[in-house]
Amino acid sequence: MSEKIKIVTTSDHTAIDLRKAVIAHLEARGFEVQDVGPMSTESTDYPKWGEKAARVVLAGDAQLGIAICGTGFGISLAANKLAGIRCVVCSEPYTAKLSRQHNNANMLAFGARVVGVDLALMIVDEFLNAEFEGGRHARRVNMISELEAGRSVC
Ligand code: RB5
Repeated sequence: MSEKIKIVTTSDHTAIDLRKAVIAHLEARGFEVQDVGPMSTESTDYPKWGEKAARVVLAGDAQLGIAICGTGFGISLAANKLAGIRCVVCSEPYTAKLSRQHNNANMLAFGARVVGVDLALMIVDEFLNAEFEGGRHARRVNMISELEAGRSVC
């Protein structure tokens, strides 16, 4: 039997309910979920949650990550500071799909103040259903890694 794909989830205080809905959806779809919190609705700083989820992905303990804050921006900016993370903010399903196919995104972010539950789940589904296409896209993603390593690609 093939192993379940593992997804790490996180958010800040703005997105506790939406994160719970995403987790329930992922589990219903048969994914294994590692949720790194937070559990409380008390105000908290999104960078630490972005980092926690990113480290799970980088360690190979989850193939993909989903991070939610008010807009999706703060938590994605934080996650993207870790080398090897390609976290995209998506507010609709089309870019979520293309971010996997072309950019090999390994984390998805969105905003609980931007999208409702139904749209969020559609975004999640497109992200998870898509696969990296490789080829010319792999060359471009490798160029991003070069930039990350401090080398010019110009
Ligand atoms: C919290 O108020 C808010 O700033 C945060 O959730 C996020 O939107 C930041 O980018």
